[in-house]
Amino acid sequence: MNLVTRDQKHLWHPLTQHKISPEALPIVKAKGSILYAEDGSEYLDGIASWYTAMYGHCNEYITGKVAAQMQNLDQVVFSGFTHEPAVKLSEELIKILPGNQQKLFFNDNGSTATEIGIKMALQYHHNQGSSRNVMLAFEEGFHGDTFGAMSVSGLSVYNGAFEEHFIEVLRIPVPLGENNEEVVSQLKKLISENNIAGFIYEPLVQGAAAMKMHDAAGLNEILKVCKEHDSVCVADEVMTGFGKTGKYFASDYMENKPDVMCLSKALTAGLLPMGLTTCSQKIYDAFYDDDISKGLFHGHTYSANPPACTAAIAGIELLVSEEIQQKIKAIIKSHQAFDEKIKDHPKVTNRRQLGVIYAFDLNVKMERYGNLRNQLFKHFMDNGIFLRPLGNTIYILAPFTITQLELNKIYSVIEDLLEKF
Ligand SMILES: Cc1ncc(COP(=O)(O)O)c(C=O)c1O
Repeated sequence: MNLVTRDQKHLWHPLTQHKISPEALPIVKAKGSILYAEDGSEYLDGIASWYTAMYGHCNEYITGKVAAQMQNLDQVVFSGFTHEPAVKLSEELIKILPGNQQKLFFNDNGSTATEIGIKMALQYHHNQGSSRNVMLAFEEGFHGDTFGAMSVSGLSVYNGAFEEHFIEVLRIPVPLGENNEEVVSQLKKLISENNIAGFIYEPLVQGAAAMKMHDAAGLNEILKVCKEHDSVCVADEVMTGFGKTGKYFASDYMENKPDVMCLSKALTAGLLPMGLTTCSQKIYDAFYDDDISKGLFHGHTYSANPPACTAAIAGIELLVSEEIQQKIKAIIKSHQAFDEKIKDHPKVTNRRQLGVIYAFDLNVKMERYGNLRNQLFKHFMDNGIFLRPLGNTIYILAPFTITQLELNKIYSVIEDLLEKF
């Protein structure tokens, strides 16, 4: 039996309607920007495997550190114990996080990172005897697939079976510059009429909404209003974190800093699953009490898994290195030059870029998961490029370590696509 047949026997894949989906492609190896398939074909990973492997797949600096850690301390309960990898990670991460972040709470993935962010916001008020129980979120946001995360996501098109169990959420549009005043006045009205505990947002780039970008000044104003009202600002940097926007975190573009931050994906450089929810001293202090019930009674078995912490430390060491910072600058420039080249093409519209994230829309009408989208995906794969169009949006979010030659290959396959569709 080949891998596909064995896969189909017992496996249920994420985000997949198996009755109508093509069979999964067996991948046997990954190195740098390349995914190697069982049949010998190769694919350039233009989305860093959902924005995780930002320092290239199987980066030897990171795998070496993790392998050594695995020989020494594999796993230990983090409730009542601590260890060097967790402590060192806290020290290294605090150095690059916005200055007000002080405490780290470990979890397993992006959804649990935001789930805990929401719980922190709600319990922050509950602990102070307040009845604030409503979350505020952006329209078309995506924060994950657990219940709290689904509730605040505005893009949960297939969440019908669960909606009646959601927490209460109000939504505002993203600020685009021209609508900033309108959004802020809408926000002020909602705040004055509702018990808003917190505001959760993907800062500057909404990934799942097809790399929709918004205005930093507008977001800064929204954060200011929320903070004046003591609504807990929860930045979901699961996608935007760790250098992708051109700064360490998208929150670095705003003067008003989040009270809580949710991190995952590139946190562990694509090696091991882990999430983190960080917060300011003010949030932490609202849980610090002689009363045990005021604590955050949330805990995952694999919290602060030592090899995962080690991968994260190694990832941060690379992120702050001169070499990676130069590569980020080079990718930004390269995308700008490509954008200049295609900007007047009649099929290209809504071009946008922040840091190494580059996106544009194909000027054709199509459904998010429809047949044409599948043809675009096939075009890329047939040409050895793994890009995952979101509806009519084509975007690149490649590893920082991608070479200019590899980038040129992605650009040229995109240009072919513009002629073909
Ligand atoms: C902004 C954002 N938040 C949360 C999540 C959920 O992360 P995970 O898939 O690790 O649960 C994602 C995943 O794509 C995301 O992009």
